[in-house]
Amino acid sequence: MAKKSKASILGAYRRLGPYLARRRRNAFLIVLLGAISAVGARSTIILVQPLIDRLELDSAPTLGVVDDSPLTTLLNEHLEPWLNSLGAWGLADGVSEVIALVMLMVLLAIVFSITQYWFLRFSRMLAVLMVTDLRQDMADFVTKLGMGFHSERRLGDLVSRMTVDVSASLRILSLMVEEIVQAPIAVLVSLTIAWMAEPVATLGMVIFLPLVAWPVAKIGPRIRRRARATQDKLGDSTQRITQVLSGIRVVKAFRMEQRESDEFRAVNQGFVEESEHMIRAQAQSLATTNFFANGGVGIVLGVLVIVHLVLVGMHKNGIFTTVGSMMTFIMAIATVFAYTKTMTRAMAVIYASLGSIDRVFQVFDLEAEVTDSATAKPFAGLQQSIRFEHVDFSYPDSPEQALRDFNLEVQRGERIALVGLSGAGKSTVLDLVARFYDVSHGAVLIDGQDLRSLKHGDWLDHLAVVQQQPFLFQASIRENILYGRPQASEAELLEACRAANLNETLARLPEGLETQVGDSGSRLSGGQAQRVTIARALLKDAEVLLLDEATSALDSASESQVQEALENLMVGRTTFVIAHRLGTIRGADRILVLEDGQVIEQGTHESLIQMGGSYAKMWALQVGTPLQ
Ligand SMILES: Nc1ncnc2c1ncn2[C@@H]1O[C@H](COP(=O)(O)OP(=O)(O)OP(=O)(O)O)[C@@H](O)[C@H]1O
Ligand SMILES: [Mg+2]
Repeated sequence: MAKKSKASILGAYRRLGPYLARRRRNAFLIVLLGAISAVGARSTIILVQPLIDRLELDSAPTLGVVDDSPLTTLLNEHLEPWLNSLGAWGLADGVSEVIALVMLMVLLAIVFSITQYWFLRFSRMLAVLMVTDLRQDMADFVTKLGMGFHSERRLGDLVSRMTVDVSASLRILSLMVEEIVQAPIAVLVSLTIAWMAEPVATLGMVIFLPLVAWPVAKIGPRIRRRARATQDKLGDSTQRITQVLSGIRVVKAFRMEQRESDEFRAVNQGFVEESEHMIRAQAQSLATTNFFANGGVGIVLGVLVIVHLVLVGMHKNGIFTTVGSMMTFIMAIATVFAYTKTMTRAMAVIYASLGSIDRVFQVFDLEAEVTDSATAKPFAGLQQSIRFEHVDFSYPDSPEQALRDFNLEVQRGERIALVGLSGAGKSTVLDLVARFYDVSHGAVLIDGQDLRSLKHGDWLDHLAVVQQQPFLFQASIRENILYGRPQASEAELLEACRAANLNETLARLPEGLETQVGDSGSRLSGGQAQRVTIARALLKDAEVLLLDEATSALDSASESQVQEALENLMVGRTTFVIAHRLGTIRGADRILVLEDGQVIEQGTHESLIQMGGSYAKMWALQVGTPLQ
């Protein structure tokens, strides 16, 4: 992943914003529910004041304040008249009022817990939905990236980004919709309540609040950097194990389990070290926050009490009004600090997740190499020819030219064979026909039109590819064949199996077409798997065929079976076939001999033999007869 994008918290919002926008309606509902439950849960604190003041502790000499606080005024105007009217319950003095207050508190708690329930349900589901959208987009995006990306891909790292990092993004999303919606509202409401209960004391407290948030703001960027490094290491580790598992046969055959284990441990050690750095930064910021939140409250409260005592001693108005209002104040302030702590903690997690968001969006920042231009034309079918015109090509990040001034015209229906030493550029020619890469210079022309001006998808619809390493999905044989054309009828499917020489094999499998094959076709022999891929290509019924050494790995018996299948496949199609065993391509209309990315000889088998050049030598070597 070459490009680095740096996400700030704002940047993260910007990039995740579209995912939130897609779920706009849910988000609105969540904010509403979050606000209601945050306000509601706090409002019970208000009722503490009248409840405690029923104890009539105010007669205590230290609290002899004259002025009513805004809360007392509010309660006196609205709550007290109602409470006084309850005398009719006929209970002992004040008891009915206390019961009424408690019932009111319980009622509020019930209502707002229900709101909270729906808030949590919706908000967590929203995060899950958003993250699923994100993962889906990522999968869509990555499968659309060009072969240039995929041939250099680090599968494990990519998988790690799509799973671990996307899940970490889920965390940030949950927090964004949950804490970041609810906590600030709760803080504001609590502050308002505290101010209404004890205006002066609240002012004293507020000055102190920023100190709680400061450590995280300070250490946050460091956490983010470390988190990204940690996730990178985790990606390395996934990368390593994916590689080992996909090459498990080699690992076992060479008895390298221990070595792989050691390597894995070394990679994981990197993860441990980076994690330690990150955890240290997180612990530091949280501990500092805790210090200010706990120690700080004590200090400020102490100062307030002393000031109050001094003022009262001087026969002036104190800071606190009544015991009840002081209780309400302390409860509200405790909530403020608790939520500030929650928020700062959330920020610490968000900073840590930003590393993951970076990694997720690094993938989206990659440019899909082969993309249709806005003017790309539809393609309906090959009429005349496929032509390479002065094509130069080098693979991305490779200094060497794989094809140099390559010229070739293949007529519709022609069968072209490509031969040559390893590394001559044969597979490259097929890659360019499929437009898995774009040429560096020159052009590939389809019926005279530049391949780059056609819709790539349309062009691919007319191609079928059979590769040297048969690739089968982990599914039934039927599903693997139908991959060529999912809407094919049963009769067409059976015909493809017959033409691919599969019938005998299928008859011997107890589950026949429904047999499940493992990854890359294990449970089938190489030749059987190859014939399944041929059936797949047959079913697709594409007019242009690209066959890359489809028979080279097979023994002679299964080679002749596959060869027969291929002959059936090639009938009437424009075919590019690569083969090392020259016997299999004798019948080609034209044989091209490639060397160092150029055509050095071409002609029919007979004419090339007669010419007595490279091809003739290769042929002699293979059939074992000395040159005449
Ligand atoms: N993905 C790639 N990235 C960089 N270079 C590549 C890539 N694939 C092939 N090459 C280089 O391009 C040149 C041509 O490779 P190509 O695969 O076309 O050879 P080939 O004729 O198919 O060989 P073989 O018979 O061994 O399959 C080689 O020098 C090779 O090293
Ligand atoms: Mg090749």
